[in-house]
This record gives sequence, structure tokens and C-alpha cells, in this order.
Amino acid sequence: MNFTPFRIAALTLCLLFSQKMFAVETIPALIPEPVKLEKLAGSFKLNKTTKLIAAPANKEIAELFADMIKAPTGFTLGNTAGGTSTIQLAINKAYNKQIGDEGYTLDVKPTKITVMANKPAGLFYGMQTVMQLLPKEIESAEIIKNKVWSIPCVKITDYPRFGWRGLMLDVSRHYFPKEVVKKYINQLAKYKMNVFHWHLTDDQGWRIEIKSLPKLTEVGAWRASRMGLWWKRDPQGANEAADYGGYYTQNDIKEVVKYAQERFVTVLPEIDVPGHSLAALAAYPDLSCTGGPFKVNVGNTFYGVDDNALCPGNEQSFVFMEKVLGEVAALFPGQYIHIGGDECFKGFWKTCKKCQKRMTDENLKTPEELQSYFIKRMETIVKSKGKKMMGWDEILEGGLAPEATVMSWRGMKGGIEAAKMNHHVIMTPADNCYLDLYQGDPAGEPPTYSMLTLSSCYNFDPIPAEIPDPSFVLGGQGNLWAESVPSYRHAEYMTWPRAFALSEVFWSPKESKNWNNFISRMESHLQRYDVANINYARSVYDAAITPLKDSVNKTFRIALSTEIKKLDIYYTFDNTFPDNFSPKYTDTLSIPKGADHIRVLTYLNNKPIGKMITVSIKDLEKRTED
Ligand code: ACM
Ligand code: ZN
Repeated sequence: MNFTPFRIAALTLCLLFSQKMFAVETIPALIPEPVKLEKLAGSFKLNKTTKLIAAPANKEIAELFADMIKAPTGFTLGNTAGGTSTIQLAINKAYNKQIGDEGYTLDVKPTKITVMANKPAGLFYGMQTVMQLLPKEIESAEIIKNKVWSIPCVKITDYPRFGWRGLMLDVSRHYFPKEVVKKYINQLAKYKMNVFHWHLTDDQGWRIEIKSLPKLTEVGAWRASRMGLWWKRDPQGANEAADYGGYYTQNDIKEVVKYAQERFVTVLPEIDVPGHSLAALAAYPDLSCTGGPFKVNVGNTFYGVDDNALCPGNEQSFVFMEKVLGEVAALFPGQYIHIGGDECFKGFWKTCKKCQKRMTDENLKTPEELQSYFIKRMETIVKSKGKKMMGWDEILEGGLAPEATVMSWRGMKGGIEAAKMNHHVIMTPADNCYLDLYQGDPAGEPPTYSMLTLSSCYNFDPIPAEIPDPSFVLGGQGNLWAESVPSYRHAEYMTWPRAFALSEVFWSPKESKNWNNFISRMESHLQRYDVANINYARSVYDAAITPLKDSVNKTFRIALSTEIKKLDIYYTFDNTFPDNFSPKYTDTLSIPKGADHIRVLTYLNNKPIGKMITVSIKDLEKRTED
């Protein structure tokens, strides 16, 4: 729906009366945008006598909300006598088909807030909306005195577009302690996402305790400590200690799963096999084709040179996976287990006697068919544990396992192919969903690779036209791979605000998309993050610098651009800092003779807003060669 007339009217009123009014009523800045929102006159004031009423079955949701309110306000909300205002959570007596299992209706009147839903999940999302309607200071961990805790009167009907709204965190390349994993889950739930995909194993660390295979964490969870660019690192030395890493005990896992459940988040565990298994092979080298010994990778190149795959010719690989998946299935109550299946280097399979015998015995013609054989056996194990199997889109190669769900990452092609075969699909194409990629000009960002701008996230549609029955697309997911994410603060920087955009893609109606409107709501949420001490990127306010090759003159021109169109860009070539008295960008630039750097800075309404980006002309020239 389009709120524009209301927004303009409200903004005008605010501008006219803001000097005189005691409490300026803000425009609701909700992310994800609700399906239907009607702004009404007046506001609800939360105070220490506000009653919070919920049926016993929904007490936990009410308590979660009361907890969030308590730190910043000092109020202990409960069913206290004598209050003049009430917040009520209630389950619909008759199922409201329009809002489904996760939707809610929210009615904010001056003395009463009513959240209604068919299921507790809907009440939880309704309460998240109430939180977002409160002033940004509600995100404070410390008490804020003398604040009017005002909630604008609104009537909202809201429900998600997709049932699968995920975020993935890779804890293998860098280990993130359970406390920050919980923080991540809490944050994604606030934006109405409901799947936390936990990438628990990879070449750089095995992070989940498997009691029957203790070496997985005794050995596989630890590598030598390194800084420096990923893939450019020196491998672990012969006498060097492997003391960087960590893992989650089964009790830690249970704690995280419970924390997620309380927030209506399903945890999807991923055990990435048969490739990406170097950490497991460091612990159990006999499961490889080549026998090892191996060290857990520190971020040095090895792909295609060293062995990192389980041997599908060796029956012990299946005995191993039976044990691993058995313990995993018992820990995670969700219906899926993700078995990876991506980027498996099959070179060593070609020369392995056991693999060759397996191929002969099973009449397998190609290494892809051998991988498919392995994955099909994974499905049999996963099913025997009462779960469904999910894998990256490589599991299509050599023949898809009968009931597999495909997570499509190399574009949407794999997802389309699987959906056409009546398989369920999660869309997470790298070009729209990979949160490890650059989000602004590489000259202004910590090193990584490729590019995923905020607008590429926002413009993503998980349902491509080629899919005849869209119901096979369960939803989508943002993925944060952590090769270049050594700290949790940086994980936040890479996630937000791009995950705001994805949360909206997965929840809000496609028709309500409006980039400018999203950006203004995003800005409000970034301010909330400032209060909450959560890190984020402001890269969307920066200019991008693009060299345009001119093959005729064997030179290049420079284009400057911003994702937000109302920004002005100022630039210099003379090694001085640009400001709004420098030349303003209007059209592509030729490079003045002798210039060795360009510096650019963005302004909004004559105030600097982006960060200054500096690039050498040499580096730009290199970009033309890439
Ligand atoms: C992947 O990015 N290798 C799934
Ligand atoms: Zn083998």
C-alpha cells in the first residue's frame, strides 16, 4: 500500500507544530513494512501502571516484551490493578484466514493496545511492531528518565509473504561465542525473520560437539591464529600451535535453540559435506581419499591442491555421518538438516581406488554422479532421523535426491530447476543475498570481494517468472560468510542495513516496494541501532566510483553514482579533501593531466553524509582490466 499522502500530511503537521507541541508524534517507521497500516489520531502513553494482559499460554511472549521494556523505562509491566491503560495479547477465537499462522492485527487506541493473532508467533510479531512504534530510546540498555513513551494510534493488519525468512551465519571461518549468536538471533527476530541457518562446519573449523566423535572438536575446532587477507595467508607451520577457534558444547546448542524458539526462530544446522570438510579430516584423516595428515585451514589457498572431501568410496564416511547426523538431529527440533553439498573438489575421487570401485559397483559414470550417490545416502540417513534434507544447489548435479529441498545460491537457476521438478526451494542467490560481499565502493570498505549493494537486496524477488508454481519457493535467506568477518561488530556491519532490506523482501507484499520510503525508514532504524549499540554500515550514503573504458582513446572516464538519488557528489583530483565548494558531479569526468587520485564526498541538503572515498587513478585503471 502507499502511505505517501499520509506521510506528507503528517510531515507538514510536524514541521508546522513541532515548536509548540510537547511530544511530536512521529511517522511510524516500521521494517518490514506492514501489509496494511492506517494512522489514527492520538497516541497511547506507556507508563508504570500500564497493564499487560495475556492468557497463560502466551505468558512467555508477554514476559519477553515486559523484559525489553524494563531496562529503558524502569517499568515492570504486569497485570497490576488500578492502571489506566492496557496492552492485551489475545488469540483469535475463530481462525482469521487472511493473516495465517504468523500474521497479527494491531489496534492502538489512546488507552488500549490490542494484539490479536491466530497463533503465538503472530502475537510475537505484533509485539515487535509495538516495540518499533515506541521511541528509539526503547532500545537503550540503560534507564532513560523523563521520557514520554508514546505509541502513535494505528490499526495494522500484517502477515508475511513467505514462510521461510532466513539469515545464515558462518561460524566456521571465525568462531562466534554463543552469547553473540543469541544477539544475532534476537536481532533477526525483531525484523520478523524466522530461520537462523547455522553454518557449523567448514574447512576452517568444526564447531559442534559430537560426543561419539570427540576429535572433531578436540582437533577440528582449532587452527593457527592469522590476520591478513583471506587466501593470502601462510599455512600453519610445522611447530605452530593451533589455538584459535572454539566450539559449542551440546548444552550450548540446546541453550541457543531454546533462546531461538522463544523468539519463534527455527535453527537450521548445516554440516557441510562431502567437500568443505578439512576440519573434520584433520581430526579423522582416514575418511579422506588421500589419508592426510591434515591441518585445519587458516585461510591459505588449498582448494584443488589439497584434499578436503570425505571419500564416498569408503563405507566409514557413512558410518561417520550416521553418528554426526544422529546427534545433530537430536539437538535441533526443526524439520530440516542442511548437509551442504557445495563446491566439492572431486579431483581426488578420480584417483582414489575406493571411489573408483564405488563408481563401478554403483554404475556411476561421473564424479557428479558419485557426489549425487553420496548425497542420496545423506538423505536416507537424515530421513531415518525423522528429518528432511536440504542442500546447496550443487546437489542437483548428477541427479537430485528424491525429497531434497534446494538452497539456490549460484543465482536462481538451480532453484528454478528444482521447483520445476516439484522440489521445495529456498532462494538465496549471491547477487542479492550474500552479505559477505562489498556493500559500497571497495576503496571505502574492508577487503572482501564482488558487490552486493543495499538496493540489490531491496530489489530482490525470490519468485522468478520461470517458476510455474511459486508455492515451491518457501522463501529466501541472507547469508553471511565469515572469511573476512573476524569480529562480531563486523558481522553486524556486514548484516545491517542489508538484512533490513531482505527482511522486507521476505515479509512485505511485493507491491508495496518503494525505495525512497524504505531509505527513510532505514534511517530511523539506524538511529535505533545507535541507541542499541549495534553496528551497521552507512555505505548506502557513499558514492561509487566507476571507470568507464574508452577503447578508442586508450584511456578512461570516471562515473560517480549513489544509490540514493537525492545526494550531491563533490570531487577533487588535486589531492585536497572535497567539500561542497569543490566541483559538483554532473556528468562523467575526464582525468586531468598528472592527477593521481580522485576523492569524492556526498552531501544531503548541504551537509556531508557519506564517507570520503579516495581511489588512486592506478587502481581505477586496474578496475578496467578486471
Ligand atoms: C556457497 O556459497 N558455497 C554455498
Ligand atoms: Zn575416495
